[in-house]
Amino acid sequence: MPKKLSEDIKKEIESLVKEINYHNYRYYVLDSPVITDEQYDKLYRRLVELEEMSGYVLPDSPTGRVGAPPLEKFAKVRHSMPMLSLDNAFNYDELREFDRRIKRLLGAAEEIEYTVEPKYDGLAIELTYAGGLLDRASTRGDGYEGEDVTRNIKTIRAAPLKIEPDECPGVIDIRGEVYMELEEFRKLNRHREDEGLPAFANPRNAAAGSVRQLDPAVTAKRKLYLACYGAGVSEGVDFGSQSDFIGWLKRKLFPTPAVFETASGIESAIDAVKRIEQMRDGFGFETDGAVIKVNDFGLQRKLGSKTREPRWAIAYKFQAHVATTRIVDIQGSVGRTGVITPFAVFEPVRIGGVTVSKSTLHNWDEIKRKDIKIGDTVVVERAGDVIPHVLMVVREKRTGRERDFPIPRHCPACGSNVVREEGEVAVKCIALGCPAQVREKIIHFASRNGMDIEGLGEKNVELLHSRGLIKGFEDIYRLRKEDFLALPRFAEKSASNMINAIERSKTATLARFLYSIGIIHVGEYAAKQLARNFAVLEDLYNVTPERIMAIKQMGEKIANAVAAFFSDKKNMETLETLKLLGLKIQNPDFTARKKKLPLEGITFVITGTLPRPRKEVEDMIEALGGRASSSVSAGTGYLVAGENPGSKLAKARQLGVKTITYGELEKMLREGQGSPTLF
Ligand code: IVH
Repeated sequence: MPKKLSEDIKKEIESLVKEINYHNYRYYVLDSPVITDEQYDKLYRRLVELEEMSGYVLPDSPTGRVGAPPLEKFAKVRHSMPMLSLDNAFNYDELREFDRRIKRLLGAAEEIEYTVEPKYDGLAIELTYAGGLLDRASTRGDGYEGEDVTRNIKTIRAAPLKIEPDECPGVIDIRGEVYMELEEFRKLNRHREDEGLPAFANPRNAAAGSVRQLDPAVTAKRKLYLACYGAGVSEGVDFGSQSDFIGWLKRKLFPTPAVFETASGIESAIDAVKRIEQMRDGFGFETDGAVIKVNDFGLQRKLGSKTREPRWAIAYKFQAHVATTRIVDIQGSVGRTGVITPFAVFEPVRIGGVTVSKSTLHNWDEIKRKDIKIGDTVVVERAGDVIPHVLMVVREKRTGRERDFPIPRHCPACGSNVVREEGEVAVKCIALGCPAQVREKIIHFASRNGMDIEGLGEKNVELLHSRGLIKGFEDIYRLRKEDFLALPRFAEKSASNMINAIERSKTATLARFLYSIGIIHVGEYAAKQLARNFAVLEDLYNVTPERIMAIKQMGEKIANAVAAFFSDKKNMETLETLKLLGLKIQNPDFTARKKKLPLEGITFVITGTLPRPRKEVEDMIEALGGRASSSVSAGTGYLVAGENPGSKLAKARQLGVKTITYGELEKMLREGQGSPTLF
């Protein structure tokens, strides 16, 4: 019951809900925020405070997106109209055949108007709005019956909780795809590595796994997106066509497909498909095709559906880069946290112009699920910018001589017994001095996102480690030029370059350093949060878990791991040694936090080759408060076009996003920064 509900409080709550929902839309749908995270947090905290005080919580309050307790199991939901699948076309002639069939069925002589949109590779869901409010969200399931995932879908900020304004008294089903962007997928897998968990095989599995979580708090942590492209029942609204419907969705603040074109006749639809295929690598999410639909809903109804697919739509599948080869061996590789990941060794095969001789098998359950054995002939795919993976086993090619690969009981690197927690997929080596783990820790320390020591990659670390020149990452700072000169392929110049790169890394940022030293559970994001909150490394010595938990988004697991790291005698000795060896860690994140940054709220996307490494440029943008994103959208502030720009340039032009050169960006950064020391 409301404890105290004055008109003023009611009004303030109502306006806060509207305001926060609008900012969610700016951020998650348009990718173009107009306020800072801090300002957003302030509004949100005020709303929580007022809601708690008054007990007045609106049905579309953003606070309802989080905080639901875990479930035992999902309830089943019957779809009012079946969620159909799509027929596939693998070449343009099959699309022409689709067009002929439609004309025949409709008895039409004139050209048909089609719509063309990307096919999202995610998880299909249905959002049911009743009286304008999001009432239920369900998975597709078998098309007729899915699972109730309402509480999880509510954590996806791009999904409107209410259809604005209130003019939808009936029930409306909006259908779309939940997906994870590639960047987020890679980040999530890196985090899982940090946490000693097995990786997800692809963004689709990651998205599906995140939606089908019994605990909504887990879903809330995964950055998921939504693209809406279809309707189920729609009482009280009448859409004439797919393009009308997409326009309506946009006006009602729903996220819609990144590209949506109408085309008169199949040949112009094919041109649109070609354009989408060209843009594909610049989207930042996975698409495996384009969907062509008859635009007119009246014609759609006339055409009707077969058992599983409508007659009015078809999915054109993009050329997959696939090849068949044989698995000659399955081996385990040991990561820096001790997780043993299986990988397949192939008879080398060329796929899309690249020779592939191995690929990760991700985790042991994946081998079982796909029934992969040594000796099997398999189909391997190398898609877009995703690493190669085994699609499936060609069972007909089995000879009976294939062998199962048992989950290892000993570490392939050091031979110690491995552990596998009850019910866990990950298999782990927990030996402290395991040489593979030590080597991987050093590789991680020196890596691009870590201390960024150029030239000290996997191969050179392996060489130095195997020769006993580095036994831990601190030894990197003991290396002399002669040590490199003694290695194969090193000459005077390359050896000096290495020493210079090592020297440069001594002034790395605290955020990078905290990530590099490999504290369990501390990925790049957590490291940055720590750096924002602790001025110098020494402030973390003797830190308590409580102090860390007081920081936004830092949970108990991270807090305990950080506190444990800094109370370990051996770790502290390593840190002291690093200091003695001349490390002078800088912390721009701490001071930067204090004042408003010049590029705050501006999103930059880079395409083509720049005169300096992309990561470095992105770091500079972020250091000034800007956001670096990998995909162009209407909310992108600037597209920075380097040499040989990719399809992002065309997309930026299409969306009217301003394009600047690297020189212009540099000028902006210099002006924003006020001093040239970052360069
Ligand atoms: S239309 C009855 N449009 O692809 C029409 N589906 O392989 C079916 N999908 O189950 C949906 N992007 O999950 C449509 N732009 C798009 C899509 C799309 C992805 C998925 C959807 C569907 C599956 C069929």
